[in-house]
Amino acid sequence: DNPAGVLPPGHPLSDGRLAGAPLLAAMTGQHADHHPVWFMRQAGRSLPEYRRVRAGMPMLQACLTPDLAAEITLQPVRRHGVDAAVLFSDIVVPLKLAGIEVEIVPGTGPVVEHPIRTVADVAALPALDPAALAPVAEAAARTVAELGGVPLLGFAGAPYTVASYLVEGGPSREHLRTRALMHAEPETWHALAGWVAGVTGSFLRAQVLAGASAVQLFDSWAGSLSLSDYRTFVQPHSAAALAAVADLPVPRVHFGVGTGELLVAMRDAGADVMGIDHRVALDTANERLSGRTPLQGNIDPALLFAGEEALQAHTLEVLRAGAQAPGHVVNLGHGVPPDADPDVLTRLVDFVHRQR
Ligand code: CP3
Repeated sequence: DNPAGVLPPGHPLSDGRLAGAPLLAAMTGQHADHHPVWFMRQAGRSLPEYRRVRAGMPMLQACLTPDLAAEITLQPVRRHGVDAAVLFSDIVVPLKLAGIEVEIVPGTGPVVEHPIRTVADVAALPALDPAALAPVAEAAARTVAELGGVPLLGFAGAPYTVASYLVEGGPSREHLRTRALMHAEPETWHALAGWVAGVTGSFLRAQVLAGASAVQLFDSWAGSLSLSDYRTFVQPHSAAALAAVADLPVPRVHFGVGTGELLVAMRDAGADVMGIDHRVALDTANERLSGRTPLQGNIDPALLFAGEEALQAHTLEVLRAGAQAPGHVVNLGHGVPPDADPDVLTRLVDFVHRQR
């Protein structure tokens, strides 16, 4: 166990090995030697070496096998030379570790055996035993031991996005049951989102204590909410999840898709850096955030398929717009598509690093 506010001995942020790491400089609004770049979903299906080591093993089992999870986390760092590793795991891992019956079905996504829809379902949600997070911490620790001067980013799903899988029972386009529940039974909703915030906050904290130097909260589906519903039903729970690591000196990134109307509310949940999807230009996002929040993003993933010339022109535009913000971490506007060509990503990293 650790006292509040104290990183364990040997943490990468305490021993100087990350001094000058461009990722952390950009996230804290300081000068970086080059533009830092990493990709959401950089570990995974676009890499042949990933498909080789994962072959025959279910996704969540791979996440909970520390050696394998560490190896998969390191693969894109070795191949692309990105400025951050992101732990190979999933937003539903803490649910699984709490005892929820959930699997990731290839080509579909997370599927929950018994959806959570009633006040009784919520009351019966299990507690997450902190000891159950050991395989996650072990994977992070083994990764960090190999990473040297590259920071590890930990992550979790935000309460709304995770709760949408619990309520719908699987992926859904509009999250109608979830959004209906907020209005039909606000107390049930708040109890559910509060439970997710606790579990997800513990998941974040375990990754940081094991060596992660920044974290990202993914509220991928928050773009389906109005600003009013976001503020009433979601923001307090996302704030609670982010608060789980607020006493530790790690930058907190908050990201969603289609969340142009929610950027200020999401920042005010306690984010140090805002992840921006490709629908909002970074200079526009910077204005909405009053010029005081470092940004991450937002190369349109479609441009990975548009040829080198178009991709480079778009990337230069992203860098130009991002330069308005107090700091800029280059990323895609959403995850790497599974059929993206890894060589395109490697060349993109090189291109970003060569720009001044
Ligand atoms: O970014 C990384 O490289 C780290 C690993 C990571 C995974 N999932 C691994 C994964 C991260 C950060 C996530 C987050 C995640 N998981 C989100 C938020 C990010 C986003 O993309 O919006 C969401 C919504 C999920 C839920 C989830 N898990 C989905 C929708 C899917 C895809 C299902 C499919 O097959 O299309 C998953 C599975 C998943 N998570 C894979 C990986 C590498 C694919 C599993 C496989 O290889 O079969």
